[in-house]
Amino acid sequence: MLELEDIQAGVVRPRPTPYAASYILLRVDERAAGREALGRLSEVVASAANPDRLAGRAWVSVALTYWGLQSLGLPPESLRSFSWEFQQGMSARASALGDTGESSPEHWEHPLGTSDVHIIVVALGPNRQMLDGELTRARKAFETLPGVTPIWRQDCHALPTETEPFGFRDGINHPAIEGSGIPGTNPHEPPLKPGEFVLGYPDEMGGISPVPQPEVLGRNGTYAVFRKLHQRVAAFRRYLRENAESSAEEEWLAAKLMGRWRSGAPLALCPAADDAALGADRDRNNAFQYADDPTGYKTPAGCHIRRMNPRDTPVAGVVRLHRMIRRGTAYGPVLPEGVLEDDGVDRGLMFAFIGAHLGRQFEFVQSEWVNAGTSLGLGDTKDPVTGPNAGTGSFSIPRRHIPKRLRGLSQFVVTRGGEYCFMPGLRALRWLAELES
Ligand code: HEM
Repeated sequence: MLELEDIQAGVVRPRPTPYAASYILLRVDERAAGREALGRLSEVVASAANPDRLAGRAWVSVALTYWGLQSLGLPPESLRSFSWEFQQGMSARASALGDTGESSPEHWEHPLGTSDVHIIVVALGPNRQMLDGELTRARKAFETLPGVTPIWRQDCHALPTETEPFGFRDGINHPAIEGSGIPGTNPHEPPLKPGEFVLGYPDEMGGISPVPQPEVLGRNGTYAVFRKLHQRVAAFRRYLRENAESSAEEEWLAAKLMGRWRSGAPLALCPAADDAALGADRDRNNAFQYADDPTGYKTPAGCHIRRMNPRDTPVAGVVRLHRMIRRGTAYGPVLPEGVLEDDGVDRGLMFAFIGAHLGRQFEFVQSEWVNAGTSLGLGDTKDPVTGPNAGTGSFSIPRRHIPKRLRGLSQFVVTRGGEYCFMPGLRALRWLAELES
């Protein structure tokens, strides 16, 4: 059984809809103050036990970077027991992640990707009022400590359209995790072993992966990835306009690129026309597989959601080894409907990944399925929505007689920065607060 009372609620709890969220980054200049802040934050962080308790409420999560653990004085042998990707940090992994050109760390928003980022406090809730209540409690934990400085903040909010900035319903898929008490969204996907998402438990490889040491620190923790992803909404809309002959065809193209209509209705269940009621129905909008559609007549194999989770597509290998808990929260204002020119305003997603295996989950998906297509039998193609297509990207829409081939895809998503983090269990947060050295 998962020790839910020791696991942060933010690990397993799906994002509410609507929502508000805030990300606050802290730098620790004095070890004692950093430890004190963590001790105080451990009083505010919600646990994953009794999930109903948090219904309609906001909750706070805390994560640390490698530099953060170092700033607290964690001994070198303990630091070395973390996954090597985490030890390197996201900016050092830029070329593996495709964060090159405009997305490269030299263009990131300061201080993202630097050794100044130590502690990350995330608050998520159903509205700003609830969120501010929890955030005020969390801020008391560090605001009065001279050796701990807030250095960056990003507020996020559900758009009035209840979609992500490109206009698609988001926050649909959530995997079922054995023992979490929270149901998954796809009844055809058996629950995943808890060790896929929490350290210290059996995983889909049949064993228990190494846990950061000492055990009290690693057990019930997990890894998290935060990425600020700027979205070029006007460019995405223009691409649809230039490649369609009617607004109905624009919607069809958008659905083919994503694998879902903007309403959230999956092509797998309604390939010919949108079904808004299905899109909004949480019991039905993720209840599908791809076995009846090997060629991709309904859902193209190269679209965003089929690449990110090929479900039962045989060519994809053991998909269960590459699943993730994913939480996107939007930042910036909506680009008004019909606007096709960029207004220069920053908008996009704070993308969050949670999983126990940075390498075979997040990094694999980003490098092999977003930035490349060979391992999915898709040749030299990238994700048409989120991939680093440089004006020469292509995308194939299988059709009975002649497939439709889109060309000239450009880069619609640019990385503005991010961090690899460790989200300790609650006991571990207190243990870190009491470290002596
Ligand atoms: C700005 C960038 C992105 C946008 C606009 C975006 C948008 C979406 C949307 C609209 C969905 C369908 C709704 C849902 O299942 O929640 C989705 C699903 C998903 N996305 Fe993204 N996404 C982005 C980046 C990423 C990245 C970087 C990854 C992973 C590295 C990713 C992984 C996934 C996964 C795993 C799913 C669930 C697929 C499924 O199970 O059917 N996304 N995304």
